[in-house]
Amino acid sequence: MASSSMRRSLLAASFVLILFFVSSASAAAPANLVISKVDRKIDLVSQVVRTTAQIKVENKGMEPASEVLLAVSSEQAKSMAYLRVTTTEGRGKSKAPGVVLSVKPAEGEGPANVTFFSVELPKPLGKGEAVALDIYSAYSHLLKPFPVEIGQSDVQLVLFHDSAYYLSPYPVKVQTTAMRVPSFRVESFTKVEPSKITDGEIKYGPYENIPALTYSPITAHFENNEPFAVVKDLEREIEISHWGNIYITEKYRLTHAGARHKGGFSRFDYQSKPSASGAASFRHLLARLPSRAHSVYYRDEIGNISTSHLRSDLRKTELELEPRYPLFGGWQVTFTIGYGVPLQDFVFKAEDGRRFLNITFGSPFVNVVVENLVVKVVLPEGSTETTALIPFHAEQTLKTKYTYLDTVGRTVIELTKKNVIPEHNVNFQVYYRFNSIALLAEPLLLVAGFFAFFAACIAYTHFDFSISKSSSSYQARQLREEVLDAVQRIQKVMNERAVASEKLEASLRDLARTGNVAASKAARKETDVKLKETAKDLKAILDSLPASSRSTVLAKVDTLMQKEREMQEKLQQKHTITVEAYEKKLSSKEIDSRVAPYQQKLTALKQEVSELLNLLDD
Ligand SMILES: *[C@@H]1O[C@H](CO)[C@@H](O)[C@H](O)[C@H]1NC(C)=O
Ligand SMILES: *[C@@H]1O[C@H](CO)[C@@H](O)[C@H](O)[C@H]1NC(C)=O
Ligand SMILES: *[C@@H]1O[C@H](CO)[C@@H](O)[C@H](O)[C@H]1NC(C)=O
Repeated sequence: MASSSMRRSLLAASFVLILFFVSSASAAAPANLVISKVDRKIDLVSQVVRTTAQIKVENKGMEPASEVLLAVSSEQAKSMAYLRVTTTEGRGKSKAPGVVLSVKPAEGEGPANVTFFSVELPKPLGKGEAVALDIYSAYSHLLKPFPVEIGQSDVQLVLFHDSAYYLSPYPVKVQTTAMRVPSFRVESFTKVEPSKITDGEIKYGPYENIPALTYSPITAHFENNEPFAVVKDLEREIEISHWGNIYITEKYRLTHAGARHKGGFSRFDYQSKPSASGAASFRHLLARLPSRAHSVYYRDEIGNISTSHLRSDLRKTELELEPRYPLFGGWQVTFTIGYGVPLQDFVFKAEDGRRFLNITFGSPFVNVVVENLVVKVVLPEGSTETTALIPFHAEQTLKTKYTYLDTVGRTVIELTKKNVIPEHNVNFQVYYRFNSIALLAEPLLLVAGFFAFFAACIAYTHFDFSISKSSSSYQARQLREEVLDAVQRIQKVMNERAVASEKLEASLRDLARTGNVAASKAARKETDVKLKETAKDLKAILDSLPASSRSTVLAKVDTLMQKEREMQEKLQQKHTITVEAYEKKLSSKEIDSRVAPYQQKLTALKQEVSELLNLLDD
């Protein structure tokens, strides 16, 4: 027994050695591999070019091969957005889901116009063995409109360049290629016999015994009226609030990247002959939102856009947007959509006690390409041990964001990715540790000071009981009770004011999300009324006190009340400035820079108020 297990481990050790040797050697010269069969399909139906190649690789050499190289023309590699290689393990034709293999760019010394990738095999391919691989890749910006400019009544034609032969670092015994085009209108395609076109498919091959790296340029020219919706920039902000919702705000700069529009635009033609006019333009955009999305809005620089439809059933919510004008080639719109989703649908508890967000990464719009995507996840205040898990490469940075009443700021995890296609719209996770007590931090901050003050007063009166025998101390106690009572009432009124100002701040946050100036103004009116009323109440409380105790109360709360009033005024100024900025439709950068000085003073005042409250504790 012992000796056999030793033999086995020795065998394994030598195996590892061979592996090591092979992998370092293969970087220089590819193993003696041959592709016995390639079945390649190219989908040219949308703006994204998708190819699948089913290949069968055989090892004709003496040494085992641990990797297989893939070749892509460098021209196409620049547009590659997605590459996934899978293999179906086991024998037979069972359609088990493939095992995804690790793929890395390979620094080969091949020709400069070819880019290589290295696929790591699950187990080394021995002499005479074969492995079947499925290679799926997707490219954006590969279809070139030609002509590059078209009029309103023209259809859009595009060019696609590729090779009739599958580009491979190894010789290929038998191969075929089929290109699916979106319409029957094919202007031309390069013929490399045998090649033919049938039922919207251009077929090349079968070709036999093509040497390694043979490239035979072909061009197909065909009609493709698919809207080439390209988002130049998308910023998604996912804000987690442990009060029950996640708020998602998405800012788009969208362009039609197809053939540029030339000549005038006739809305009459567009509406009266929709089939013969603006075939490649788009007037609708469809977004698939989570099923329980709520508070959905859609606005551009001018304001809310109401010509959008929201349909929802149990499984999904669909938002169909209609921009103010149809989008032709080269035209551009910027807009913002926002929605909320229930917290419990996307935030869960992990086994290690942390929470995690599990939500989709890309844009909810169907069939868009996003050139620059930034996803910001704003975690609740006090979150720690943050990590993001994403199934492909994206740049990650951690930042801190401050909002109203945040004491330590919120952790923001920012993920950046270029060239994002629908394939990237998969779930990603952000893990964080979060203490429910921290949830109470904000409201506590408001009341803690008052509470401390209150507690101090109670201690004060209790202390007094022990000496309440003589009539002078009785009088003193009477006075203190009056003070206590007044302070309690003042506390209650101050709390009401704090709630009113919180409402005003909330309306500013809503304004930033929805651009709804009217609602923010209404909130301001309400707050102003409340502040006036409570100011009267405060005055009444002080007036009702006998003069002797009034000065005692004032000594205690005077500076506090003054500072609090100043803080409220600063908040009102901030509100006025913000609303004005929105009314003038300033850019968000401009708005931020205008509001910043007020926000600074406001933050300082809040700090002072809370310090004064702490002082009362002593
Ligand atoms: C690379 O350049 C060589 C020499 O010009 C050419 O023969 C070959 O077809 C090119 N390959 C690709 C993939 O463009
Ligand atoms: C995230 O959600 C997806 C889709 O609902 C699910 O398939 C996946 O298992 C979830 N991931 C984790 C880590 O829970
Ligand atoms: C904009 O839309 C939001 C959400 O539907 C709505 O609450 C708000 O009243 C609208 N604002 C304006 C200015 O119409």
